[in-house]
Amino acid sequence: MAFLASTPPGFISPPSTSNKKSLTSQVLLNGKRGQRFKISCNAPNGETRSNPSPSNSQSVETSSAIKLDRRNVLLGLGGAYGAANLIGDKLALADSTNKPFPYPNLTDCTVSYITGDPNTPNSVQVPYTCCPPTPADSPQPFKIPHTDQKRIRPAAHLVDDKYIEKYMRAIQAMKDLPQDDPRNFYQQANIHCAYCNYGHRVSDPEKGTDYLLQVHSNWFFLPFHRWYLYFFEKIAGELIDDPTFALPYWNWDTPCGMTMPFMFSTEKSPLDPSKSNPLYNPKRHPDHFPPAVFDLNYRGAASGLPDLTTVCNNLSFVYRQMVTNAYDTQSFLGTPYYFGDAAPRGTGASELLHNPAHIWMGKPRTTDPPTYGEDMGNFYSAGKDCLFYVHHANVDRLWRVWLEQGGQNFQNQAWLDSQLFFWDEKKNPVYVTVKDCLDEEKLGYTYQPTELPWLKAKPIPKLEKEDVAANSNAPSVANAFPATLDKVVKVLVQRPKKSRSKAQKKKKKEVLVFEDIEYPMDEFVKFDVFINDEDEVGELMSKAEFAGTFSSVPHGHGGDEDRVLLSGFKIGLGDILEDLQADDDEYILVTIIPKNAGEKVTIDNVRIEFS
Ligand code: C2O
Repeated sequence: MAFLASTPPGFISPPSTSNKKSLTSQVLLNGKRGQRFKISCNAPNGETRSNPSPSNSQSVETSSAIKLDRRNVLLGLGGAYGAANLIGDKLALADSTNKPFPYPNLTDCTVSYITGDPNTPNSVQVPYTCCPPTPADSPQPFKIPHTDQKRIRPAAHLVDDKYIEKYMRAIQAMKDLPQDDPRNFYQQANIHCAYCNYGHRVSDPEKGTDYLLQVHSNWFFLPFHRWYLYFFEKIAGELIDDPTFALPYWNWDTPCGMTMPFMFSTEKSPLDPSKSNPLYNPKRHPDHFPPAVFDLNYRGAASGLPDLTTVCNNLSFVYRQMVTNAYDTQSFLGTPYYFGDAAPRGTGASELLHNPAHIWMGKPRTTDPPTYGEDMGNFYSAGKDCLFYVHHANVDRLWRVWLEQGGQNFQNQAWLDSQLFFWDEKKNPVYVTVKDCLDEEKLGYTYQPTELPWLKAKPIPKLEKEDVAANSNAPSVANAFPATLDKVVKVLVQRPKKSRSKAQKKKKKEVLVFEDIEYPMDEFVKFDVFINDEDEVGELMSKAEFAGTFSSVPHGHGGDEDRVLLSGFKIGLGDILEDLQADDDEYILVTIIPKNAGEKVTIDNVRIEFS
C-alpha cells in the first residue's frame, strides 16, 4: 500500500499485520435512526488549512453520504500537519493555519461502539443511543454567570453527614428526572459515551467532510472533563436549589484518600439504612470496596503486594506523572489535535495517571455473558458511576496543582478557541470554548486544600553506581525493535548526548520516546518502564529505576477499519539518570514490563530525543 511508505517517521502508521482494505474503500456505518453513513476514503492529500469560519454550520446531510476521509481518520495527515507531531519535533506551526474544533454536529450524532467498529465481525454497539437530545434551536455561546457564591469542592473522605445528605439528594434528583431531560443522570453519563466512543462528529463545511471527534489521548482531555463536571455540578445544585453545591473530589493522591470513599460503597444509604444509596453502583469490581487500597497503577489483576507498598507505589507513581513525565505543556496535557486531523494519539501524563484507576473500579470483563468492564472500566459506561465524577474532580484539581507548580497551559489559538457542546442547568443548549474554562475562579469553584504528600515521594536513588548498561548483554534497538510485548523486553538505548551541563538540561529535556505503539482500542493494555534495572519483576515504583507507565481505557471505534489504535508515548528522563548515576553513560538499559495484554501491543522503535 503506497500510503504506508509516506507515513512520516514517528507518526501513526497503519498496522502491518492486519487485514486492511484499500484506502479508497468505503465504510458503511449504521447511523442511529436508521440512516446509513457512507464513509469514503479518497479525500485529497495536502489540503490547505485556513482559518475556520466563525459560524458553526450545523447544516449537514444526515441521510446520505457523509464523507469521512479515511486517510485523515487513520493518519491525521493533511500535508505537513500530521507529520508535525505525535512524537517528533515540537509543534512549530503557525497557529493561524491550524483549525480549532467547532462543536459537534448535533443532528449527526450516531451510534457508539463498545468494541470494534462497523466492519469488524464481532463489533458491539452500545445498545442505546448516547446522543444528547437534539435542541430545537441552535446552541448559544455560553456566558459564565457571575457569582459571588463560590462552590468549594470538598475531599470526598472528609465530608460530613450534612454534605452526604445533600449530595445524595442531588444525585437522586438527577436520576429522577424524565429520561429525555438532558440533565437526567443517564443523559449526563451519555455525554461521555458520545464524546468518547465516537458518537459525535464535526463537519468541515468548506470541504463537505465530517470528522470523528475524540476527547481522549490528546489536548482536549483536561478541558473537556472540566466543562463536563462544571455542568454536571451546576445541574446537581440547580435541582436541590443550592447554588453553592460542589462535587466532592476523590483525593487519591494522599494516603487518607486511597480507598473508595465510604459514601459510595454501601448499597443502603450511609445515613439511613432503610433507604437505598443513589451513590452506590453494583457494576464495580467486587474486591475493590473498602477497605481495599486503591491501586492507582492497577494492572487488571491484584498485585499481591502489601497495602503499604501499594500506598508507596501510588505516591511515587503520582510523582512521576505530575513531575518527571510532566516536563512541558504537551507532556502533561496531551498532544495537539486540530480540526481535520485524525485523533493523534499522544496521551498526556495527566491522563496516563488516571487510566488504570478506571480499570480498578470497573467490574472485571467476562466472556459469557460478554461484559466490558462496566461501568468505570469502559468509556461508554464510565459516566454511569458517580465515582467517575469524583475521580475526575481530582484529575481536574491536579491540573490546577500542576499549574501552581510551574506548569503552563497551551497558548495555541486552535486549542483556546475549540468548542464543545453541553446542556446547561436551565436546559439551554450551549457551546463553550476551551479558553473559558482555564480559570476555575471564573467558573466559580475551587478545591478544599489538602497536603501533597507525593511531592515528597520522589522515587529513591541507588546508593552506588552500578554499571548496569555497560554490563548488560541486552540487544540494541536495531536488533530488538519492532517489538511485541509478549514478554519482558530489554534493550540498550544509545544516548545522542551525555554529561550535559545544567544549563543545557534546563533548556532541553532528555526524553525517552516510544514510537508507533499499536494496540487494540477496545482493550486495556498496560506496560511499565524501568531504566537500568536488572530486575524483571517491576513491582516497586518507589525506586528511581521506575520511569513511567503506559495504559489505555477500552472504547470502541467509529469508522476505522482496524481494531487498532496507534500511538506514541514519551517518558521524561529528567533527573532519573543523575539519580542512577548514569548521566555519563553512553547507553541506558530500558526494561519494558508488560502488565496487561502485552501480546497485543507492538512498538516500532525507541529512541532518545531532547525537547
Ligand atoms: Cu473521559 Cu476518565 O475519562
